[in-house]
Formats: sequence, C-alpha cells, structure tokens
Amino acid sequence: MKFEKKAVIFDLDGVICFTDRFHYQAWKALADRLGIYFDETINNRLRGVSRMASLEIILERSDREYTPAEKEAFAEEKNNTYRELLKTMTPADLTDEVKDTLAELRRRGYLLSIGSSSKNTKFILERIGLGDFFDAIADGTDITHSKPDPEVFLCSARKLGMAPADCAVVEDARAGIQAARAAGMTALALHGDAEGCGEEDYNLSSFADLLNIL
Ligand code: BG6
Ligand code: MG
Repeated sequence: MKFEKKAVIFDLDGVICFTDRFHYQAWKALADRLGIYFDETINNRLRGVSRMASLEIILERSDREYTPAEKEAFAEEKNNTYRELLKTMTPADLTDEVKDTLAELRRRGYLLSIGSSSKNTKFILERIGLGDFFDAIADGTDITHSKPDPEVFLCSARKLGMAPADCAVVEDARAGIQAARAAGMTALALHGDAEGCGEEDYNLSSFADLLNIL
C-alpha cells in the first residue's frame, strides 16, 4: 500500500520518543499520594489527552471532589515530577530507527512537523537533539482543544502551508487517530491504543515502516 502525501505530522509522546513512560510514572506518583487507584490501562486513556483532561480521568476514581485550585496544584505537581524525569533524557534517547527514518523522509522531499498536545514539546525536542529539526511545530501551547479535536493537526498543517489532504499523521493514541481523521488527514497508527483501534487508515509495523508506504 502507498499513500501519496507531501507532509508527515508526528505525534511526540510515544511516537518520536518514549516520554509516555514518564507521564505514567509522574501521574502514578500523584495518584499514589492521593490514594487513587491508577494503572497502565487507565494510563492508556491519557494518551494524546491534555494535562487537565488527564487529571480529570484520574480523579474519576477518587471518592472526593477537589476545587479548581486544588486541581491546578495537582497538575503542576505532576508536571514538576514529569519535567524532572525529562531532564534525564539526552540525544541517546532518540533511537537510530527514528533518526534515520526522519532523515530519509526529508531526503525524499517530505515536509515534517510535530502535532502534540504537550506543552513540554519544545523542551523534549531540545533534550533529544531535535530542537531545530522539524519544519513546523504545533503543540499544547497553540491550541484550546486537545485530541480527538483536530485543532493541533490543522494548526501544524497551516504552519507547513499544506492542505490537510496532503498530510499523513503518525499516532500512538486512539484520540490522535480520531483527530487526524477529523482533520481530513491520513491516520497511521503506531503502537499504543491507536494500533488496531478500527479508525486508522493503516497500522505501521514499526516507525521505519513509513519508508515502505510513503
Ligand atoms: C500528550 C500525551 O502528548 O501530551 C498526554 O500523550 C499528555 O499523555 C499531553 O497529557 C499533555 O502533556 P503536557 O506535557 O503538556 O503535560
Ligand atoms: Mg502519543
């Protein structure tokens, strides 16, 4: 199968790098402190979802209500834990597979961008040595609606100067696959709860599989 596209928009967490495990650790630390049950299955529902919406999902298991100010403090606490974990990342956390595939896609003439719900996107890209690599970045600081809303991908395409129909999206989140489809883009699933969710256009067997279908 081949997709005729001019640009590829990548989700960040769980696609370019494996910060999804740090999100899990940081939320788990908060949930444990509050005595709220949290596991990997619940964590899967947080993929692609904004920080505050993620907190609301975690608090579904709480037996008490919290004020907006308390919720803000919890989100900040989680983000502080998360950023400490991010500081341990280096360019060695970018796999050769991802690095080489991105380089080959660029050599083939594709525009490459990021479409992530994360407000830490630029910090993460700098940590892994991709701070200046992408042709455009749309992230949690650009949007008011997170995935499955198409806003972040439409913003990324606009920054690239590309029509949505010319863009493919690579996602590990089902919410991200839904966002890509809602944007009128081709949705490529890689791992996570995106894989086999039934709404994807194609399941990538690996990141490098992009080179077989583009
Ligand atoms: C997404 C992650 O990329 O970013 C979500 O998949 C996360 O799990 C979201 O909640 C927001 O991240 P941040 O870094 O702004 O808290
Ligand atoms: Mg993701």
